[in-house]
Amino acid sequence: MSFGEPSKFRKYTPLVAVLFLLGGVVYAVRSLGVNTGYAPEQPIPFSHRLHAGENQIPCLYCHANADKGRHATVPSMNVCMNCHSVVANDKPTIQTLKKYYEEGRSIEWIRVHDLPDFVYFSHRWHVAKGVQCQTCHGKVEAMERIEQMQPLTMGWCVDCHRAKEASIECGTCHQ
Ligand code: HEC
Ligand code: HEC
Ligand code: HEC
Ligand code: HEC
Ligand code: HEC
Repeated sequence: MSFGEPSKFRKYTPLVAVLFLLGGVVYAVRSLGVNTGYAPEQPIPFSHRLHAGENQIPCLYCHANADKGRHATVPSMNVCMNCHSVVANDKPTIQTLKKYYEEGRSIEWIRVHDLPDFVYFSHRWHVAKGVQCQTCHGKVEAMERIEQMQPLTMGWCVDCHRAKEASIECGTCHQ
């Protein structure tokens, strides 16, 4: 734009302002409730890269309910102690783990993925149909700390259901 003749463009100013506002509103509405990128620090720095990546422990070894029910579930202290009663038990983090275990306490992991209660979702159907953990959770085996990779919005669910010819009736996910 030449500074000499701004009048040429001035008539578009209201239009640009309205488009800008609309863009803002659309963006705000689309981001409502979206937690993509959420990666809280956990009480013990548990590394998926180390366990599922480097040591290749299968996801289902720890998330044993993922092919059976709604929740994949986070493993109990017993599962950790299967290995850590011996493995790396001189490390301070593992000593903390052991102390919790001996006191009969569990670690209060901070929940990362969380759908609203009015949505009906189960891991079982998805795992049974061969949808990979990584499709919904990203490359977990490379993560030092768990991060939410997908928006988990209705649009996200419905897009895949359309593509895979799964049901998109309202009652499938809202009962
Ligand atoms: C040795 C046990 C272990 C293995 C193996 C393991 N996980 Fe986990 N996972 C955990 C623990 C403990 C947490 C809770 C702490 C955290 O978020 O880091 C967790 C948390 C998660 C979460 C986030 C839960 C939430 O709060 O929303 C996802 C998703 C997940 N794991 C997926 C996987 C996938 C996919 C694999 C395989 C590639 C895998 N895990 C392998 C122990 C394990
Ligand atoms: C179709 C997408 C999808 C697939 C496939 C999937 N997850 Fe999830 N996962 C989710 C959603 C959505 C949530 C949040 C569920 C909620 O809040 O009820 C979640 C939550 C979790 C959690 C937190 C605790 C829980 O169970 O709610 C863990 C752990 C987890 N997933 C692990 C896994 C593992 C391991 C696999 C593969 C065996 C897997 N997920 C496959 C979408 C998926
Ligand atoms: C199948 C065996 C196995 C299981 C089950 C397991 N781990 Fe591990 N863990 C390992 C191995 C192997 C290492 C690497 C040890 C090393 O590098 O010396 C490790 C390392 C760690 C470390 C890092 C220690 C350090 O400071 O260097 C932490 C923390 C940890 N594990 C926590 C957990 C927790 C919490 C659980 C339960 C949710 C768990 N582990 C379950 C095998 C396991
Ligand atoms: C990556 C693809 C994918 C994503 C993402 C996905 N789904 Fe699915 N979903 C499927 C497939 C495939 C099936 C199995 C359909 C069948 O059994 O024919 C399924 C089945 C279901 C069913 C059972 C339908 C029945 O047969 O009764 C429900 C409920 C469901 N999904 C809810 C959700 C919700 C809620 C979300 C989002 C949080 C979601 N899904 C995200 C692929 C996906
Ligand atoms: C495949 C699963 C799925 C199907 C099918 C589905 N929904 Fe949803 N719906 C969700 C999820 C997940 C959420 C929560 C996340 C969000 O708000 O985007 C949601 C949220 C909603 C909300 C609340 C929006 C808000 O901002 O709080 C309404 C209303 C809704 N759905 C209506 C419908 C109607 C009407 C249909 C049928 C045309 C339908 N849904 C079909 C998964 C689904």
